[in-house]
Amino acid sequence: MHYDFTSHLERHGMDAIAVDGVGHGWAPAAPRQGFDVIPMWVADMNFPTLPDIPQAICRRAQHPAFGYFSPTPAYYEAIRNWHRQRNGVQDIPQEAIGYENGVLGGVISALAVMAAPGDAVLVHSPTYIGFTHSLENAGYRIVHSPLHLDENGVWRMDFADMEEKLKQNHIHAAILCSPHNPCGRVWTREELTQAMEIYRRNDCYVISDEIWSDILLDGHKHIPTQSISEDARQRTVALYAPSKTFNLAGLVGSYHVIYNEWLRDRVDAAGSKSHYNSMNVLSMHALVAAYSENGMQWVDELCQVLSENVRYACEHIAAHYPGVTLAHPEGTYMLFLDCSEWCKAHNCTVEDVMRAGWDVGVAWQDGRPFHGPCSIRMNLALPLDRVQEAFARLDQYVFNA
Ligand SMILES: Cc1ncc(COP(=O)(O)O)c(C=O)c1O
Repeated sequence: MHYDFTSHLERHGMDAIAVDGVGHGWAPAAPRQGFDVIPMWVADMNFPTLPDIPQAICRRAQHPAFGYFSPTPAYYEAIRNWHRQRNGVQDIPQEAIGYENGVLGGVISALAVMAAPGDAVLVHSPTYIGFTHSLENAGYRIVHSPLHLDENGVWRMDFADMEEKLKQNHIHAAILCSPHNPCGRVWTREELTQAMEIYRRNDCYVISDEIWSDILLDGHKHIPTQSISEDARQRTVALYAPSKTFNLAGLVGSYHVIYNEWLRDRVDAAGSKSHYNSMNVLSMHALVAAYSENGMQWVDELCQVLSENVRYACEHIAAHYPGVTLAHPEGTYMLFLDCSEWCKAHNCTVEDVMRAGWDVGVAWQDGRPFHGPCSIRMNLALPLDRVQEAFARLDQYVFNA
C-alpha cells in the first residue's frame, strides 16, 4: 500500500461527531471506564484522507483573499474526468454539472421540481435515515417499497411491489440509492434496467443518489443510473460527492449531473431560491485534488482495505455469533446486522445488544430508524486492527459473555 490505512487517527477535539458526539443526544452512549470509543456509527472514515487534499487546501489558503468566485474549468474537468475513468461515462457536458450544498440538499431541490409537499415519493426500505428525515421535514409522504433478501441472502428490489405502489399512489418521483445504504447492494445493470423501465412506464422521475458509487468492494462495478438508456438519462437527477469517498463531509461539496435541460433548469431554480446553495472555495480545491490520478490510486487502495475489513467482519460474525445474520455488502463500508434470531434465543432486545456494545466502546448504530426492526448498522472504515479490537470486545462482552 502506498497510502496510510493503518495509523490510528486521533480525532478527538478535531471536529468529529464520530468520537466527540458519543454520549450526546441520539448518538451511541459513552463507554464504561476502561474502554475507549471505537467509532462505528456516523458514515465517515477513520483514515487520513489523500494527502494532496489538505495540501491543496493549504496552498489556496495561503493566498489571503477569499472573495466571490466561480467554479474553475479545472473543477468541471476533474468531475468529467473522474466519471470518464471511474464509471466509463464519456464527456458529461459541463452544463449538466451543478453544485449542491450536500447530496440531501440536492435531493430536496430535485423533489421540489418533481412533487409538491403532501405528495407521495417512492423510497426503498431499509432506508438511509437522512432520506427519511429530509423528506418528512419537507412535507413529502414516503411510500416504502421493501427490499427483500433472496434465497442466497442478497438484497433485491421487489419490482412488482414498486410498480403497484407507483400506480396505487399516483407517484411520479422516486429515490434510488445506488449503491444502497444501509444494505450495501451495488445494483447490477439488469436490476437497474428493470427498475428504470418501471419508472418509465409510470412516468416517474428518479433521484439517483450515487454518493457511495466510489466505495466498491471485491471488484464490484458501479453502473450509473443515467447510463441505462436514453430515457433513464433524461428522467434522472444523479447526485454525487467526493465527501464519502475521501472523508470530506465537513467540507461540503456535492454536485448533480442532470442531462435533461428542463429538469436541470427547474432543479437549479429550486436550489437557488434559498440563496444558500453556493460552493466554498476550499471545498472546490479539495475536489480538484481528490479527483486526480493520485485520488484514483488512493480510492483503489481504500476499496481493498474495506473489502478486507468487511471479509474479516463477515467471517467472524458467521463463525462466532449464531443468530446474527447479514448480507455481505458489495459496496459502502456499512454492515447491516440482523440480530432477530440472536435476540430470540437470548430473550433480549436489540436495545440490550446495542447498549452492551456501547458499554465497551463499540459505538455502533441503532438500525431501527433505518427500518431494520432488530438491526444494528456498523461502520467498518477503520484500520483493520481497530475493527478486530471491536469484534474482540463484542465477542468477549456481548455475544459470548
Ligand atoms: C445515501 C446517502 N446520501 C446522502 C448522504 C449525505 O450526504 P450529504 O452529507 O452530502 O448531504 C449520505 C451520508 O451518509 C448517504 O449515505
